[in-house]
Amino acid sequence: MSSSRLDFKLQARATGSRARAATFRTLHGVIETPLFMPVGTQATVKAQTPESLKASGSQILLANTYHLLLRPGGEVFERMGGIHKFMKWPGSVLTDSGGYQIFSLPNSRAMTEKGAVFQSYVDNRRILLSPELSIQMQRSIGSDIMMVLDQCIPSTADEAAAREALQVTQRWAARSLAAREDSPQSMFAIVQGALYPELRKESAAGLIEMPFDGFAIGGLAVGEEKHQREDVCELTAALLPEDRPRYLMGVGTPLDLLEAVHRGVDMFDCIIPTQVAKRGTAFTSRGIVELRRSVFKFADTPLDAACSCPVCVTHSRAYLHHLTKTQETLGWTLVGQHNIHFYHQLMREVRQSILEDRFLPLYHEKRAFLHEEDT
Ligand code: GUN
Ligand code: ZN
Repeated sequence: MSSSRLDFKLQARATGSRARAATFRTLHGVIETPLFMPVGTQATVKAQTPESLKASGSQILLANTYHLLLRPGGEVFERMGGIHKFMKWPGSVLTDSGGYQIFSLPNSRAMTEKGAVFQSYVDNRRILLSPELSIQMQRSIGSDIMMVLDQCIPSTADEAAAREALQVTQRWAARSLAAREDSPQSMFAIVQGALYPELRKESAAGLIEMPFDGFAIGGLAVGEEKHQREDVCELTAALLPEDRPRYLMGVGTPLDLLEAVHRGVDMFDCIIPTQVAKRGTAFTSRGIVELRRSVFKFADTPLDAACSCPVCVTHSRAYLHHLTKTQETLGWTLVGQHNIHFYHQLMREVRQSILEDRFLPLYHEKRAFLHEEDT
């Protein structure tokens, strides 16, 4: 059987852990895992330029089919030659399918076997988001990796609802695959099943029968406890093929990423580093720093002395404190740039430790202080 069109190469596995390091090749270059994908919902990572993302070490960005379908629409991407040319991003792009946005629709009765009917927030049009439309739009966008349209449900859903959602997701996955036709873009399936181990097994078993290039763990970070998330992540990752990328959707804090890498996950996306930057929250090697705190008013020290990003090399905590206190856009940009760099740096350190088979000690060391507040 042919392996993934991504030419996935497992390079190393950590001793005493499920952590792994790998490479794979998209239409825009070679990717090294474990990795973090900044979120660029509207074909922009909020307050960041493509140049600064590249400089921070971003290899692949996430964009959202749902938002880009509503505005600017598929025709713009087709006429501009795809998302890479449109936003001048030379790296890779993964598009989420819209499944997660369906999940937050106010009226779940709008969901049928065909797809999800919703009203556009741009012009109030009624739109049927079907697996076929989602893939058609992802082909217009021209992402490197397309996601199947899925039904993500709250992790507190009862077993009958969770089973129904995963079975619909299964059928939509097959339809998504058919809608790819001869596109060179890769496609990942999404495992659902809420917090029920049996349902996660049923979902994974059905999806791995189909020739997907990678597999995502969906339906997490939607209301469950941290230990529940970790258990389901561990169980699900172990059900997925060794020779394909594994992607945990929508997770998480730096500590969450570390825990999930330990459980066998290769890829992540999350809005946290850019979202919290807006209010002046920074992740550092010594813990979380809230830059609005008045203790930083006269702090002529770098944000993170251990960080080599342009923000930490150039600016003081006092300046960043001032920018965030005054809600200046530049504060969001600079703290965001540092946070993204921090996530990438964490993944690079983790990857190097796996390659040198010293992940487990690094895991214990990082775990001890990743979440504590620094002053
Ligand atoms: N983002 C976070 N979780 C999910 C999920 O379950 N499905 C999709 N499509 N996107 C997500
Ligand atoms: Zn920095």
